[in-house]
Amino acid sequence: MDFSTFHVSHVKDLLVISTPIVNYFLEKGTGHLDAKKGFVEACGEFGIAINMNDEVEPLTVKKNEKAVLRTVHLDDAEEILDIQREVIEESVYFIRVPEEFDKTIEQEQEWIEKILGNERDNMFVAEIGGTVVGWIVFRSQERRRMSHTGSIALQIKKNYRGSGLGKQLLQEMLAWAEQNPLIEKVCLGTFSTNHRAIALYESMGFVEEGRKVKEFKFSDNEYVDDVLMYKLV
Ligand SMILES: CC(C)(COP(=O)(O)OP(=O)(O)OC[C@H]1O[C@@H](n2cnc3c(N)ncnc32)[C@H](O)[C@@H]1OP(=O)(O)O)[C@@H](O)C(=O)NCCC(=O)NCCS
Repeated sequence: MDFSTFHVSHVKDLLVISTPIVNYFLEKGTGHLDAKKGFVEACGEFGIAINMNDEVEPLTVKKNEKAVLRTVHLDDAEEILDIQREVIEESVYFIRVPEEFDKTIEQEQEWIEKILGNERDNMFVAEIGGTVVGWIVFRSQERRRMSHTGSIALQIKKNYRGSGLGKQLLQEMLAWAEQNPLIEKVCLGTFSTNHRAIALYESMGFVEEGRKVKEFKFSDNEYVDDVLMYKLV
């Protein structure tokens, strides 16, 4: 296997690895690839592990695991809440700090119920082996003059990132929005530091329409812009 034919590159401090390499390792079940700054390893049990010195979290995608994408159910509330808590604990992707997130399962269920009851809203989950490992929501605006627009939010469980699930969930939501005559514009906001999310959105045709400069303050002299993106559907 000649790895030079595959795309392996670094964006900031992240390793980007292309789908053919991932597929190769999944098929082969074992292997080792040196990249400039990190390594990619695969073994029969885990499928793939990607590590970059100590800078990036190890990623594992278990072999032969197949994700199922489906509309959310009310009884997904607890697992979705767990993912939300985990991502907020990571403290790098979302506005709220952990102390500001105290949603209960009942509140989460009410939220899901409202989404399911609104023809301009939707939510999908990605499930692997019966467990929800990712979710995406589209919530429309309530005001009449804005009701053709809405915003997306999505989260993938840490160990399942970078394996295509975010993209599949986004594709599913965009396909739904495209065939929904009530929706014309899909919006989102993301931290300017969230390079993986921005790369995903750009790859799906989202365009930056502006940014709120220094919108979030992490510490003295450490600010992040809110990047506003949209896609017409
Ligand atoms: C952002 C997130 C939803 C992306 O989902 P994912 O499953 O990890 O991403 P995917 O594997 O589907 O990759 C989709 C695209 O992202 C980009 N990408 C993936 N991994 C990347 C990395 N390490 N660095 C840069 N770009 C990357 C690529 O463009 C990729 O497309 P490609 O495979 O066709 O090249 C997910 O990582 C996540 O939940 N992160 C934490 C929460 C979060 O940031 N949510 C979004 C807030 S706005």
